Amino acid sequence: MTPKDVPNPAAGLVVRRAEPGEVEAVLDPVVKLAKASATAACWSREALYPYVATGEAGGVLQAKAIFLACANPSAGGAAAVAGDRPLGMVDGMVGFAAFSTIMTVGAGESTLENMAVAGPWQKQGIGGRLLSAGLLWCRAQAAARVFLEVRESNRAAIALYERAGFSVVGNRPGYYREPLEDGLQMRKVLGLVARSG
Ligand SMILES: CC(C)(COP(=O)(O)OP(=O)(O)OC[C@H]1O[C@@H](n2cnc3c(N)ncnc32)[C@H](O)[C@@H]1OP(=O)(O)O)[C@@H](O)C(=O)NCCC(=O)NCCS
Repeated sequence: MTPKDVPNPAAGLVVRRAEPGEVEAVLDPVVKLAKASATAACWSREALYPYVATGEAGGVLQAKAIFLACANPSAGGAAAVAGDRPLGMVDGMVGFAAFSTIMTVGAGESTLENMAVAGPWQKQGIGGRLLSAGLLWCRAQAAARVFLEVRESNRAAIALYERAGFSVVGNRPGYYREPLEDGLQMRKVLGLVARSG
């Protein structure tokens, strides 16, 4: 059975934040997915580590978080999909999105640092769900804006970001390598909320 054989397989997926206690379980699958995605940033375990291992900033200048799309074993359809283990991923992890927030006096500023959904699972709303979860976290960090960079040829990602309310605010000539390509900087302005805790 392939993911496409299961009716609406993405419906049983859970999108959640990775917790510090699961560093070892999370790092390798995320590195593998990032490497398999030609247009995602190719991160090492060391680069990823602070996104999983650190909690909220608590007075520190920068907070990081990574959100995962995982098969939910208690959901019928997803359990069948999880048994398939597409791309050899542990625990049915089929997508991630990593964010950071710089805390400043007043409002903070967030960045979508990296994001990918495994090929067979794309165009089923998973990227949108990961983005929504991350944007909620950015709001909770009292970020006023969220920035990202994207290859100018990456139509799928640009469409996803525009749909989520991002707009192009700048160009980054020669920002990407292998292949060399210009980047677009995109920004979403968030409604400010009071930082809790
Ligand atoms: C970009 C990416 C994360 C999108 O994930 P996804 O799960 O396919 O996205 P969704 O299914 O949530 O799509 C949401 C919206 O994005 C747009 N979109 C997604 N894939 C698209 C495609 N191939 N072509 C056009 N629009 C697309 C659509 O507007 C879509 O809304 P719709 O389904 O109502 O039409 C995925 O394509 C991916 O992993 N790409 C490789 C890695 C990458 O480029 N990462 C971003 C680096 S900046």
